[in-house]
Amino acid sequence: MSAPDHNHDLTLDSAVTLGFTHRVRFTKGVFAAANPALQQALTSDGDVCARRAIVIVDEGVAQTHVGFDGMIRGYFAAHAPTMPTLMDVVIVSGGEACKQDTRLTDHVINLVDRHRICRKSFVIAVGGGAMLDAVGYGAATAHRGVRLVRVPSTVLAQDDAAMGVKNGINRFGKKNFVGSFAVPYAVLCDESLLTTLCDSVFRAGFSEAVKIALLKDPTLFEFIEHHAQAIAAREPAVSNEVIRRSAALHLNHIVQGGDPFECHEARPLDFGHWAAHRLESLSGYAISHGDAVALGLLLDCRYSNLCGWLSDADFARVQSCLERLQLPMHHALLANSDALLQGLDEFREHLGGTLTITMLKSIGHGFEVHAVDANLMRQAAAELG
Ligand SMILES: NC(=O)c1ccc[n+]([C@@H]2O[C@H](COP(=O)([O-])OP(=O)(O)OC[C@H]3O[C@@H](n4cnc5c(N)ncnc54)[C@H](O)[C@@H]3O)[C@@H](O)[C@H]2O)c1
Ligand SMILES: [Zn+2]
Repeated sequence: MSAPDHNHDLTLDSAVTLGFTHRVRFTKGVFAAANPALQQALTSDGDVCARRAIVIVDEGVAQTHVGFDGMIRGYFAAHAPTMPTLMDVVIVSGGEACKQDTRLTDHVINLVDRHRICRKSFVIAVGGGAMLDAVGYGAATAHRGVRLVRVPSTVLAQDDAAMGVKNGINRFGKKNFVGSFAVPYAVLCDESLLTTLCDSVFRAGFSEAVKIALLKDPTLFEFIEHHAQAIAAREPAVSNEVIRRSAALHLNHIVQGGDPFECHEARPLDFGHWAAHRLESLSGYAISHGDAVALGLLLDCRYSNLCGWLSDADFARVQSCLERLQLPMHHALLANSDALLQGLDEFREHLGGTLTITMLKSIGHGFEVHAVDANLMRQAAAELG
């Protein structure tokens, strides 16, 4: 057989550059008739063609905010005719369970079909990070992507998850195994939604603020450690300041970090997450994401300390801060280090390429490592088990 002739091959390699606007606004009382934030966000592209909207509400919000459905309907009525036509308000169960199968995502795709939501129309999701992820996946895939507006209703969703440009659900016992990258059309954070959270869900969300502060902003870490007790006691002024600063840091990293769709292996925002995701999965999702992140941070900080990178004094500050925020400091699953360490393999596979995880050299300064000393990691885990 003669060798193929490549003289007439054609190469059309081209760069694809896309521009998106990530609209993020903080407000209070997002569905109060006098609040223009949502109306302004929905009409900010100046496109006046007939559009529709469906609003999907996490049951956790609907059950605790009396008359929420009526407020939403009243808001659309008050701002007609500039608003899209409200087709339905649908209440769905949220929490991690909604990411455990395809039912909620399929429900969203069905709603898009039933209410003839076009690519210029809106799916508005009000809920926690889990529900936003599952609804977001449906919105990103129906018609290959309709406009998603997130109204995050937990601390974690406001200070981290809703800023993200991804969505997803769990499969094969692995976190976020299926999903996509998609920039939301708008994000509206409403601090008044947070008043109905139970204490454990409220506090768990601050682990992501500690994470980003440890990586990027020592002054935010100082603020959190100084006000940790007030935050745990849900003092609104300090809690809201931390949420806003954490959201801004997450957003800044995503928008300015040069890799919004995570094409590179380094994912600093996932500090502490290799263990967190594994703990969530090993516990059958009984450990919440926020609590798992607190444990994962503590583990990787202790490991950084055992490796001689992080000083004893800095490690003690991290420990004390998490403790005063009333976040979990121990879990029996950390004692099973064989099962835990499998999380490193899963993490490498999810990222692709070489294992790349972030460790800490001082408060405010993370760095990447490509290998983990299993014995030292086992020692760190045993202390927290
Ligand atoms: N897409 C991303 O970039 C990203 C980033 C970080 C985290 N996440 C995901 O976010 C999820 C965790 O989100 P979470 O911490 O918000 O938890 P969650 O969504 O599981 O919500 C916790 C509970 O609070 C209830 N709830 C929600 N809002 C409420 C309110 N205002 N009042 C009373 N109850 C309310 C929910 O119904 C649920 O039972 C995880 O699945 C995690 O993987 C995604
Ligand atoms: Zn996280």
